[in-house]
Amino acid sequence: MRTPFICGNWKMYKTVAEALAFLAAAKDLVAGAKEVEIGIAAPATTLKSLADAARGTNIKIGGENCHWEKEGAFTGEISPAMLVEVGASFVLVGHSERRQYFGETNATVNKKTKAALAAGLQVIVCVGETLAEREAGQTRAVVVEQIQKGLEGLGAGDFAKLVVAYEPVWAIGTGKTATPAQAEEVHAVIRGEVANLFGKPVAEALRIQYGGSVKPENVKEIMAQPNVDGALVGGAALKPDSFAKLVNFRS
Ligand code: 13P
Repeated sequence: MRTPFICGNWKMYKTVAEALAFLAAAKDLVAGAKEVEIGIAAPATTLKSLADAARGTNIKIGGENCHWEKEGAFTGEISPAMLVEVGASFVLVGHSERRQYFGETNATVNKKTKAALAAGLQVIVCVGETLAEREAGQTRAVVVEQIQKGLEGLGAGDFAKLVVAYEPVWAIGTGKTATPAQAEEVHAVIRGEVANLFGKPVAEALRIQYGGSVKPENVKEIMAQPNVDGALVGGAALKPDSFAKLVNFRS
């Protein structure tokens, strides 16, 4: 009932030329994929070319971040409408690297989420605990607070275009994947909290992606968990054949 959503997050990798070469190779490899939503979040400089090249394929293109204002004196920032204009259809908000290195907080996540939804973008809101938080037994509290504050003030209708990604910080780029059971446990917490806040139908329809060292070798068992509805993938989404294996996780 929830269509799986496999999404690459390229982070600060790929020039325009590299992005287009990836797409040219990947699009045929995933063209036959059924019942799966496919996305690539890419550097801002590549979005226009990528979105143009992806038109007519089953791959959608998104931004990795945006600002919450429509325009203004915010040097270096990009508005949701600017993403829409170049053909992006979704955006990541609150990625742990944004939280860790660029001062993203639950409050800015909330403002960005609302602004991006208002501009018509689909939003992937990223949450997840650090290793220290996990070891201190705070995983549940941290993730619940990220959900409560990040999604505060949204209406049930907003969830048609909202996806949550659970990315334990200690599993990102480390090769240390959460076990399927660890992922499932936190995904269930997230779905439970969304049910508390927005009602059970909203929670049941919400897609929750797992992210953190997902690769072709482990995607199938992670996707088999009942509350895991997709994957948000960094390193293993940088090569077309690996990306295609993730998308075609059922085979
Ligand atoms: P890796 O897949 O490289 O661990 O990165 C995960 C991630 O941060 C996706 O947003």
